[in-house]
Amino acid sequence: MIALKNINKSYAIGREKFYALKDINLKLYSGEFVAIIGPSGSGKTTLMNIIGCLDTPDSGEYYIDDENVAKLNDSRLAEIRNCKIGFVFQRFNLLPRLTAFENVELPLVYRGLNNNERYEKTMKSIEMVGIIERMKHKPSEMSGGQQQRTAIARAIAGEPEIILADEPTGNLDSKSGKEIMNILTRLNNQGKTLMLITHDKEMAKYAQRIIRISDGKIN
Ligand SMILES: Nc1ncnc2c1ncn2[C@@H]1O[C@H](COP(=O)(O)OP(=O)(O)O)[C@@H](O)[C@H]1O
Ligand SMILES: [Mg+2]
Repeated sequence: MIALKNINKSYAIGREKFYALKDINLKLYSGEFVAIIGPSGSGKTTLMNIIGCLDTPDSGEYYIDDENVAKLNDSRLAEIRNCKIGFVFQRFNLLPRLTAFENVELPLVYRGLNNNERYEKTMKSIEMVGIIERMKHKPSEMSGGQQQRTAIARAIAGEPEIILADEPTGNLDSKSGKEIMNILTRLNNQGKTLMLITHDKEMAKYAQRIIRISDGKIN
């Protein structure tokens, strides 16, 4: 479903080019749960940004469902991102002025779904992550674990094929972290393709396959 071939990505540091990803080759099959593990600074987030169509590589090929997305324009990239991929971030990235319900609903508003469809899909996602009783609260009135559940509900509301989670437990205590991993595992069991990015061995253990990255290289 996803294939990266000889992907390179550099950042300009003054006049120098710093390669954050070097010749990455990687496949992700439909329904898999893969963990990418590596130390801080190894290129994990850069890799996730490319896989998530949030950024483009300098060179190489990147296929999602047999379409080479490395060469697409921004609007087509945005379309793929919005339809096929759900994101979960370390810092939750919820909008502070919106309630949990409204945060989950927002991507469906952008998609132009009508009221009934939005309500149904939002409630289904909220039920799935177990935050019904908190859905009228704003992020500041929720615990970290509840905020991350809300973020997961937002990620799955649009029914993406793939979930990309970048250090989803990085800001949580170990109990909430385990709960989040259990929710992600359940989503994978229900058929979602899941890529977990982490520096934490314990969290990587939940995955079916572990890929190690260091200094921008998969080894
Ligand atoms: N926007 C940027 N500009 C310059 N260097 C960057 C930028 N983003 C990341 N880097 C560098 O690229 C390397 C990989 O970063 P990152 O992908 O965030 O790693 P990780 O998520 O594994 O901690 C690091 O050395 C980081 O300093
Ligand atoms: Mg990172």
